[in-house]
Amino acid sequence: MQKSAIAIYPGSFDPITLGHLDIIERGSQLFNRVIVAVLCNPSKQPLFTLEQRVAQIRASTQYLVNVEVESFKGLTVEYAKSRQARVLLRGLRVLSDFEKELQMAHTNNTLNPEIETVFLATSNEYSFLSSSVVKEVARFGGAVDHLVPENVAREVYQCYKNHPEATLTVMNSTRPQNPSPDGPETSTSKKNSTDSKN
Ligand code: PNS
Repeated sequence: MQKSAIAIYPGSFDPITLGHLDIIERGSQLFNRVIVAVLCNPSKQPLFTLEQRVAQIRASTQYLVNVEVESFKGLTVEYAKSRQARVLLRGLRVLSDFEKELQMAHTNNTLNPEIETVFLATSNEYSFLSSSVVKEVARFGGAVDHLVPENVAREVYQCYKNHPEATLTVMNSTRPQNPSPDGPETSTSKKNSTDSKN
């Protein structure tokens, strides 16, 4: 087996958090190159478009010379192969991440045994943090500056500012509507288990 100097860090990144950035930074010290791969997932209705997410991550990682950002469709292992990468990088925060991550790693291994999944333990300070938490806090008008990169915080605030009805709806109803310009995702649908890492 050839040694791999390239790691793919796949995810939804809706939006990128400081926890993701922590993994990217540390990954960039371990591998020659880290490719942050943003999944184009037609079954999810994200807050930010694919293009916005790629731009947000590029802006947040521009100081890391060996990090690049791309979007991809389809299977992660196929994308990894197309980039000659042998490593999938994932962060592990808490025990509840483990089950889903192990299942994904095993599935990917059955699809391409030459590609290994490498887990980095998320730094303690970010063990609570997810994209969903960021969206939840921002939806209720809370501060997210300490949770996401500066450029992303601005866009999150802007997004919810442009949709103030979201906060109003939350106050008046038990089923808040999604402020996303991309689609009608409710907070109920966001709580589904496949979104837990977001
Ligand atoms: O940030 P996320 O949503 O936890 O990332 C999940 C992701 C994108 C890594 C995972 O859903 C994925 O790899 N999707 C692509 C489809 C795929 O390859 N599935 C097989 C592994 S279960």
